[in-house]
Amino acid sequence: MTTPPEISFAEVALDAIADATGRVAVFIGADGRLDPAARRVNKLTRGALTRFLESKAFDKLKPGEARTLAWPGGMAADAVDVVRLERRPTIEEARKAGAAVAKLCGADDCLLLAGANACAAEIAFGFALRAYEFTAHKTGERTVPGAVTMMVTQPEAVAARAGPMAALAEGVFFTRDLINEPSNVLTTDDFAARLAAMQDLGLDVEILEESALEKLGMRLLLSVGQGSVSPSKVVVMRWNGGESDAAPLALVGKGVVFDTGGISLKPAAGMEDMTMDMGGAGVVAGVMRALALRKAKANVVGLVGLVENMPSGAAIRPGDVVRSMKGETVEIINTDAEGRLVLADVLWYAQDRFRPAAMVNLATLTGAMVIALGHEMAGVFANDDDFGAAFLKAAQAEGEGAWRLPMAPAYDKLLDSRIADMKNVGGRPAGAITAAQFLKRFVKDDCPWIHLDIAGVALVKSDTALAPKGATGWGVLALDRLVRDRFEV
Ligand code: BES
Ligand code: MN
Ligand code: ZN
Repeated sequence: MTTPPEISFAEVALDAIADATGRVAVFIGADGRLDPAARRVNKLTRGALTRFLESKAFDKLKPGEARTLAWPGGMAADAVDVVRLERRPTIEEARKAGAAVAKLCGADDCLLLAGANACAAEIAFGFALRAYEFTAHKTGERTVPGAVTMMVTQPEAVAARAGPMAALAEGVFFTRDLINEPSNVLTTDDFAARLAAMQDLGLDVEILEESALEKLGMRLLLSVGQGSVSPSKVVVMRWNGGESDAAPLALVGKGVVFDTGGISLKPAAGMEDMTMDMGGAGVVAGVMRALALRKAKANVVGLVGLVENMPSGAAIRPGDVVRSMKGETVEIINTDAEGRLVLADVLWYAQDRFRPAAMVNLATLTGAMVIALGHEMAGVFANDDDFGAAFLKAAQAEGEGAWRLPMAPAYDKLLDSRIADMKNVGGRPAGAITAAQFLKRFVKDDCPWIHLDIAGVALVKSDTALAPKGATGWGVLALDRLVRDRFEV
């Protein structure tokens, strides 16, 4: 897997700055004051730093943005990157500042001069998150990552704060790798094997194969995968870091390793993006990895439904009626509305087996979600205002865009079927909401539940502040924070 850069924290050593190779980054507050390390850079460059800070170019620099002083005389480094910070940056701004340096730095050596900055660990975290590149299928020269050092006045204290963040960065990278991976590599078997390997981290991982799913009555999930040569699976990952008798938080993910639409085939243009249709499962996997790595004091169970939606002689047809594990029947009007079928059975199984204290599901569920909120925010649906608000607060704190959408019984009539208990699509109006209403039928009323439709945010076509274009890992940070805020002892 792609591993986050290791950042070492060291005492501020003024004499080492002149000899640092690669790039040197200086963080400057809005007041433009220089700390001892920045003063040393200024002296070595015969005042280049103060000239820049007094120029209009610095005034124009937005918080979190960097400007490069290239080939500085008097220093071994190729560049000095000057990053502007607010006086009291939010964690999001601090991370952006670190990320701006990582973007410039690439695989070069890098010395980050953070001095006594209170948000040094967040700057380092932002650097780590942005230093991601998916190179698994690029042949030729492998770039060897450079050495990254951050000089701070209190290296031990900053390193201690950075520890759990490194676990989170690894969770985010794991999610991004899964989502970026093409579907001929990340088959259901390969996905399950990558999850099983997390047993080494202390997670309890169980793989339910088709025969077991058949016995459980998960016909909705199985019907989605029946046209593919890849076997359908449900993988259960358990992290028991909390009190032994505490009901767990359940995280449920849609893991459609490729979504052709099935017999209701999607158009060719853009179909390649459906390699990311396992994004919900990818986020669940990344959160579980982060929780295990940082030894979270909470009980969390992650469940993912892994299937491939293919057209074939064995595929499910429009018009077929299938029985869910819950017992209710579904008329499959459109085989491309498959994610809700997978989730319905896994949600039911999660509640039936684990009696969770609360449940969150994630899915790249609807194109309608992308139309509604674009690529900036995920849709949040909740059956419990308090739980919904807790998630929104966590997402806001982590800088992950999230917006609540309504649910209401009035939408249910759109799912009425002539011959079965319900149909799997409600038509074009309110497409993201009817999908949520469908899922809600498989959630018990007394279980606080959130559905996150991440269709627009899981994979994006241009760089974001903390990720290069491609998989973002959206949700790993917010869910980890939700666990910390509400489920850790
Ligand atoms: N995986 C898609 C949703 C999707 C679309 C995710 C675009 C990411 C980007 C989902 O399985 C799907 O095909 N949904 C259909 C539902 C419709 C048939 C009711 C859709 O949104 O078109
Ligand atoms: Mn689909
Ligand atoms: Zn899908």
